[in-house]
Amino acid sequence: MLANRSFHGVLHPPPPHFTRSNSYTHSLSSSFSPRSETTPLLPPSLSTGPSNKRRSSLFCIQAQSEPSESTSDAAALYTQPFSAKIPVGDRHSSSGKKGKEEMSSTVGQVIRCKAAVAWEAGKPLVIEEVEVAPPQKMEVRLKILFTSLCHTDVYFWEAKGQNPLFPRILGHEAGGIVESVGEGVTELAPGDHVLPVFTGECKECAHCKSEVSNMCELLRINTDRGVMIHDGKSRFSINGQPIYHFVGTSTFSEYTVVHVGCVVKINPLAPLDKVCILSCGISTGFGATVNVAKPTKGSTVAVFGLGAVGLAAAEGARVSGASRIIGVDFHANKLQRAKQFGVTEFVNPKDYTKPVQEVIAEMTEGGVDRSIECTGHIDAMISAFECVHDGWGVAVLVGVPHKDAVFKTHPINFLNERTLKGTFFGNYKPRSDIPAVVEKYMNKELELEKFITHQVPFSEINKAFDYLLKGESIRCIIRMEH
Ligand SMILES: NC(=O)c1ccc[n+]([C@@H]2O[C@H](COP(=O)([O-])OP(=O)(O)OC[C@H]3O[C@@H](n4cnc5c(N)ncnc54)[C@H](O)[C@@H]3O)[C@@H](O)[C@H]2O)c1
Ligand SMILES: [Zn+2]
Ligand SMILES: [Zn+2]
Repeated sequence: MLANRSFHGVLHPPPPHFTRSNSYTHSLSSSFSPRSETTPLLPPSLSTGPSNKRRSSLFCIQAQSEPSESTSDAAALYTQPFSAKIPVGDRHSSSGKKGKEEMSSTVGQVIRCKAAVAWEAGKPLVIEEVEVAPPQKMEVRLKILFTSLCHTDVYFWEAKGQNPLFPRILGHEAGGIVESVGEGVTELAPGDHVLPVFTGECKECAHCKSEVSNMCELLRINTDRGVMIHDGKSRFSINGQPIYHFVGTSTFSEYTVVHVGCVVKINPLAPLDKVCILSCGISTGFGATVNVAKPTKGSTVAVFGLGAVGLAAAEGARVSGASRIIGVDFHANKLQRAKQFGVTEFVNPKDYTKPVQEVIAEMTEGGVDRSIECTGHIDAMISAFECVHDGWGVAVLVGVPHKDAVFKTHPINFLNERTLKGTFFGNYKPRSDIPAVVEKYMNKELELEKFITHQVPFSEINKAFDYLLKGESIRCIIRMEH
């Protein structure tokens, strides 16, 4: 089913108008007019959706009964009182209050805090004081503690191959704590440790009830919306000027407002400065392999793009018992690092005059069993498909394409029984599945530290862009300075 849906989305040029089923194709006018007529409210029984049997069988993991010293220290750090926020209208009276008391002092009030605002395409982000409105119906306001930079943020900041929408607060990989909840939110409470996710799970729609789909009808990724679903408005402003949201998360802010269906409650002992990377890149790459490509033991796997997403895909191949993992990247310096993630061979397309799919076919007697594309470049997507073995090969697209990209291949490649799939967020249903992935980290079955190459304080967030653009970082953790 996944293959068929993706097939449609990828092979045909996107329609010019907005449809809920293709979030990359519409262009929203940049006004803030309410859109509630086209964006239905979340069903009231959000919290009582059925459990997903397929998902719960993905990992059979018990939480650690005895937290390690480092994790309990971490837990203490992450449950520090809410101290840095001063509600508008109460700016002189909030000092001196601590913990829950102070937390409750901000409930229902506008919070002034720092956010990194993208005012224009490609221009450095500017740390501004923003107003963050209280959460509305089915929304949650989060205190972000750690965030990181994914290449998807960069695409929408550059706005070269994506629709420009500015001013905007980017950011979608993060960990934080619930500050307050809006009307109708019953399953989250202030103090909960959470990961916001760019694609949500209402638990009520046909997709959420499906065993195979994570494309929630209501909360699937929408890169062009820029406002909250409930009332079509932004919760961010600067002196009354609205600032757009990004993929419903906008984590480059000390506080943000997120739909409850896009918030994953996790083990409070999990160190947020590590598990924050599970809220996008690592879950996406790892899930693309283990949930979608599903290589069997002894398979050959090619991974295109050795950034965080690709390395997580390689890690998925390694734990699946792949015998050969061929990494493909333009940067030769990526190989050494990629070995830690199970990559056994390296191909730089620039070293060959023939197409990389032919190089891989020759290396593997006809093609790899599985390939996972994590670059966002259309040529790599086509190569990733054409390098899989006929008869059984499966290719999975993960990279976010240019808005005008068109996938072109000869139909005989399909007739010869190759399969093309695609996935957002590694096919994980965020709220149902990600707590178990966090437990995998806690149980030392999944290593996250090796993905974290850099750290910067929030005030130096633009350095994270430099590190990623120069290909130096895998993930750079941005530490909020509350
Ligand atoms: N589908 C999803 O849910 C999802 C989620 C997160 C990220 N993404 C996308 O995944 C991709 C990777 O993200 P990332 O954060 O790891 O980025 P990154 O910049 O860290 O890594 C991308 C790597 O691809 C390499 N590359 C670029 N073009 C290439 C080509 N034609 N052939 C071979 N290698 C090439 C680059 O050298 C780089 O090492 C991006 O397109 C991002 O938008 C998708
Ligand atoms: Zn991402
Ligand atoms: Zn849904």
